Amino acid sequence: MAFNDKATAQAAVYNDKVVRQFAIATVIWGVVGMLVGVIIAAQLTWPALNLGIEWLSYGRLRPLHTNAVIFAFGGCGLFAASYYVVQRTCHTRLFSDTLAAFTFWGWQLVIVAAAITLPLGITQGKEYAELEWPIDLLIAAVWVAYAVVFFGTVGMRKVRHIYVANWFFGAFILAVAVLHIVNSAAVPVDLFKSYSAYAGVQDAMVQWWYGHNAVGFFLTAGFLGMMYYFIPKQAERPVYSYRLSIVHFWALIFTYMWAGPHHLHYTALPDWAQSVGMVFSLILLAPSWGGMINGIMTLSGAWHKLRDDPILRFLIVSLSFYGMSTFEGPMMSIKTVNALSHYTDWTIGHVHSGALGWVGLVTMGSMYYLIPRLYGQKKMYSVPAIELHFWIATVGIVLYIAAMWIAGVMQGLMWRSVNPDGSLTYTFVESVKATFPFYVIRLAGGVLYLAGMGVMLWNTIMTARQGRIEPVRIPAAQTAHA
Ligand code: HEM
Ligand code: HEM
Repeated sequence: MAFNDKATAQAAVYNDKVVRQFAIATVIWGVVGMLVGVIIAAQLTWPALNLGIEWLSYGRLRPLHTNAVIFAFGGCGLFAASYYVVQRTCHTRLFSDTLAAFTFWGWQLVIVAAAITLPLGITQGKEYAELEWPIDLLIAAVWVAYAVVFFGTVGMRKVRHIYVANWFFGAFILAVAVLHIVNSAAVPVDLFKSYSAYAGVQDAMVQWWYGHNAVGFFLTAGFLGMMYYFIPKQAERPVYSYRLSIVHFWALIFTYMWAGPHHLHYTALPDWAQSVGMVFSLILLAPSWGGMINGIMTLSGAWHKLRDDPILRFLIVSLSFYGMSTFEGPMMSIKTVNALSHYTDWTIGHVHSGALGWVGLVTMGSMYYLIPRLYGQKKMYSVPAIELHFWIATVGIVLYIAAMWIAGVMQGLMWRSVNPDGSLTYTFVESVKATFPFYVIRLAGGVLYLAGMGVMLWNTIMTARQGRIEPVRIPAAQTAHA
């Protein structure tokens, strides 16, 4: 009987424990992943900083950085946001507390396993899919549990309507499951070594179908789910156009799937396939900007809030960077432009305008909304600290991406420059020397961005210390979304 009472009482409140755990993990892994980013940025500037130790060499720390920022920082942020949003918009507790707890501890285990194996040089050598097969199996198990919890919760909803943020989270969860399982197919040799199930150009195409859709569904669709919930909430305005959000959803997920070949221009991939990739990338501009406009216009009539609400500023500026990188991406997919940009730091600039500007800022803004609420507070411990974080992060991004753009175009032009007799004007080493000042500027930008994350960690600890954990009651069934 007592057990039943407890179960009934639990069913009446949201499961915020797992949201809290993921939110805290987001902040901690953010600091770790960006610290590794700063270390590798310093190593590119001064290679001797690998100290001659193989575990600290650039080739091993680079995948550690990408895995930590994308899957640990970004991934935990997406788990936290999706678990919070699906409960609030479906007016129900998560489908299963046990499975939800499994996703948290399982995902942390994946992260720790990555942090150990990558510096040891244990890798499949596929970008963003480096982890060896036993870890891949664990990822698949966690992801299936995540899908069961998320869709199970949607299935138990007390409101008829499925709010658009859940569509984006749902597409992200399903697509990542398919991508991960197909791309990770491999033949194990022993516990630490396996060979891809694909070979040659097929292997390359499967890898970049995966890689590009990891951008489209992990780094984009999931974070658009955040954007569609937290911007209206923070601005206290409904989404600008609900109809546009549905068109945005279907157009985006359909188009992304075909754009992968733009990563393989001028390779052994058949020319027509490269052109298909280019055309779909150009089309992708439209749904991307439709979504950005929908988010920004949600502020209609509330623009003044940007003046004194730093959380809203994080969210809106993230959309501006989303707009920038989704304009730049289609341009870089044009074969003649890619002939200049590929292999240069222009790509790195593009990546980080999306990663620091869009993914980073939208995650930080959403976590600043969530964290106080998870500790029974109305706002973070220090609002001026959020303001400070916003400015140092923004200056950091601008330094990072401007330096990479200039360096990239310069490298591309130097490499293709030829003398009248047909010989190269510059040696490769001359282009490396010319890049040095830009690497110093990028490093400074990265240090600022990391410092902002440090401020966020401090603010989070202070908020948690002064707050208290209070269960939040689920409102009685309604027909509208939360
Ligand atoms: C303090 C902040 C950061 C610094 C200093 C930094 C630095 C770097 C550096 C030096 C590289 C290697 C570039 C190269 O190979 O030439 C890199 C790669 C990368 N970083 Fe970051 N990063 C930071 C934050 C982030 C964040 C927050 C994300 C994602 C959310 C991210 C995603 C990536 C990705 C995807 C790559 C691989 C790019 C490619 O292969 O084209 N970074 N980063
Ligand atoms: C309309 C949207 C977009 C298009 C069409 C697009 C297109 C491209 C193109 C053409 C490249 C260069 C490929 C190469 O030369 O190797 C690239 C690289 C990349 N983009 Fe985008 N991009 C888009 C949006 C984004 C966003 C929003 C992000 C991040 C949040 C992002 C992350 C990346 C990453 C990580 C790479 C580097 C992949 C690698 O080589 O490791 N992209 N993108």
